[in-house]
Amino acid sequence: MTGRTRVLLSKEEIQEKVKELAAIVSRDYRDKDLLLVCVLKGAVVFLCDLLRSLEIGAEIDFMAVSSYGNASISSGVVRILKDLDRSIDQKDVLIVEDIIDTGLTLSYLRENLLSRNPLSLRIITLLDKPERRIAKIEPDYCGFCIPDEFVVGYGLDYQEKFRHLPDLCVLLEFEP
Ligand code: IMP
Ligand code: MG
Repeated sequence: MTGRTRVLLSKEEIQEKVKELAAIVSRDYRDKDLLLVCVLKGAVVFLCDLLRSLEIGAEIDFMAVSSYGNASISSGVVRILKDLDRSIDQKDVLIVEDIIDTGLTLSYLRENLLSRNPLSLRIITLLDKPERRIAKIEPDYCGFCIPDEFVVGYGLDYQEKFRHLPDLCVLLEFEP
């Protein structure tokens, strides 16, 4: 699949923002037992860059949920495809997301993780599309608010493609 894309955020802009976020998270969690819970797969690239920029230690774990299937609109149906490996009881949990769109995925995830008795639970997202929000949910840390356009690159995909692009791009058109 090939596609025509337009750069929305360059890799340099993203790197600078990730460093800023990492500095704030490092300060806020200095004396805490931080566990980063990465939501697969889109947030993987953000997780890696964030983790490497932290000035404090952190554990990582992964969850995979599906809300989209293969379409670019949210179904509102959230299913756990892969659960965490370990208990989060008494941990300071920070959910790491690539993008919050309708918020349905995260809203489900938040309730699910809260029921497992973490000491604290916050959300960090690289990107936020507030215009499309359906669920009542706001990130505690956010990199960029972006307009209502479908974006790919820096880990984000369209039908599993385009994750490798180093910049965050708007997908204008594509050819299967
Ligand atoms: P939500 O439940 O609508 O907030 O959907 C969140 C998930 O949908 C994100 O974690 C992404 O995996 C995916 N998603 C939402 N918007 C985009 C986009 O513009 N590009 C790529 N994936 C997106
Ligand atoms: Mg995601």
